[in-house]
Amino acid sequence: MRAAGIVAAAGSGVRLGADMPKALVPLAGRPLVRWAVDTLLAGGVAEVVVTVPPGQREAFAAALPEGVLLVDGGPTRTASVRAGLAAVSDSSDVVLVHDAARPLTPPDVVARVLAALADGARAVVPVLPVVDTTVAVGPDGLITGALPREQIRRVQTPQGFHRATLVEAYQRLPAHAELPDDAAVVHSARVRVATVAGDERAAKVTVAHDLVLAELQVRG
Ligand code: CTP
Ligand code: MG
Repeated sequence: MRAAGIVAAAGSGVRLGADMPKALVPLAGRPLVRWAVDTLLAGGVAEVVVTVPPGQREAFAAALPEGVLLVDGGPTRTASVRAGLAAVSDSSDVVLVHDAARPLTPPDVVARVLAALADGARAVVPVLPVVDTTVAVGPDGLITGALPREQIRRVQTPQGFHRATLVEAYQRLPAHAELPDDAAVVHSARVRVATVAGDERAAKVTVAHDLVLAELQVRG
């Protein structure tokens, strides 16, 4: 089984508010996108495609190892992954889609996703339990009911797919559709999505505080 990785890195990082694209922001001296690519390679991925913000190819090439393929992303994450998927070679049987915004994902998570695919899953996502009490609220902010926490999971990346399954699901998706992640794309094509254990260290860097926490995590 040969695995390709797509790193979604074409966002601008509005909520982080840095003076450069979020994926190029350094964490312990290495750009976030470099951490994400290294995790995929360490976990057993054979080829990597990175989607970059338009006009940023040179800066990303300087941040990444030789052999990583760079493609222009689109206006939404869904569009960016679609562009990345078109650049994955036919020789890869499975594809892992990962966020540059999850720099400290341990390679073990990649290995668990690959193992589930090798075991026959067509789609698999890493998940974590929810520890807080969860409720639903209406537009007025009032609680409308309890949500059964045992049935809820937080979804992370990398998310793994048989390549043909993911390609077909993106083909069926309307051109400008925008979905939160790739599991949602295959789910919309009625593909069953399996789960494996995620990892708290794979937390997403969204706002400045998350970067502070990530720096602490690196220092151990
Ligand atoms: N992403 C992408 N293409 C886009 C938008 C997002 O490839 N058009 C990527 C981001 O680079 C990121 C991942 O999708 O690695 C998750 O998105 P998010 O955390 O929302 O990052 P940004 O969109 O960059 O941040 P913000 O929403 O704060 O602008
Ligand atoms: Mg975003």
